[in-house]
Amino acid sequence: MTRISKILTLSALALAVGACANVDRSRNLGNPQVSGYTLAQQVCSTCHGGNGINANGTALNPTFPNLAGQQAIYLETELQEFHDHSRRDAAAQDMMWGLTRQLTPEQIKALAEFYAHQKPLPNPAQGDPVAVAAGQKLFIEGAPERSVPACATCHGARAEGNGPVPRLAGQHADYLYKQLMAFNDDVGRENHPEAQERPHAVVMEGIAHGLTDEQKRQVADYLQSLQ
Ligand code: HEC
Ligand code: HEC
Repeated sequence: MTRISKILTLSALALAVGACANVDRSRNLGNPQVSGYTLAQQVCSTCHGGNGINANGTALNPTFPNLAGQQAIYLETELQEFHDHSRRDAAAQDMMWGLTRQLTPEQIKALAEFYAHQKPLPNPAQGDPVAVAAGQKLFIEGAPERSVPACATCHGARAEGNGPVPRLAGQHADYLYKQLMAFNDDVGRENHPEAQERPHAVVMEGIAHGLTDEQKRQVADYLQSLQ
């Protein structure tokens, strides 16, 4: 063996060994060998916190949703919708399309399971108490005069969610408000699925349309205050 080819062989070996060891620390979103857990720690944590929430419950950015304790079925559906570009609100396109482009169904399932099993924390952000009280009333009773049903019927008495219905408790109010506006923008687009920002939310479109902007803020502030 010439000296050069020895060096080449050795460095190829080092690379191969390195690649094996690094699969546990990889940020490579295009490698199906990298586990959902590793991607959660190495990539998703940058915006969603280590366990799907920042250690003290605060927001890195209040429009980045908490994922800890979210319903697994819901998480899987949303990741699939980012992956196939059917959830298309502006922030979804900017932030989540690229990140989920090459994820495999197995990685998506593992990520959903990981976050569903993390412990949610109380959100330290405080809304205006008057708005929180009005939001609580909306959550429990709905707004019958505007044909808005009680949120608790589907999202659960403590907004813990259920299967395809997401947990809302402790979520950042700014994120919730932004999504209610995205549902609102979808109203009337039922016959144009390609224009809908969130395709699995026909029910939420009617509800968001029935709420005034002020009521959207109030219910978001209330949900943020729940544990
Ligand atoms: C650069 C920041 C950033 C990174 C990194 C990131 N996300 Fe996100 N994620 C966001 C933002 C912003 C949203 C909200 C999008 C919207 O408003 O539609 C979001 C939304 C989500 C949602 C939807 C939550 C809900 O309540 O509907 C899931 C699930 C999610 N991300 C999972 C992940 C996973 C898994 C990874 C790692 C592969 C990841 N994210 C990496 C910024 C990020
Ligand atoms: C009939 C059942 C039902 C009722 C009633 C209902 N929701 Fe929902 N909600 C859903 C479903 C299902 C989704 C998930 C939609 C999707 O997959 O895109 C959802 C999603 C949401 C989201 C998006 C969460 C996220 O993480 O992106 C918000 C915010 C929300 N609902 C708020 C409310 C509020 C506030 C009320 C009451 C005024 C309410 N919902 C009443 C079924 C319901």
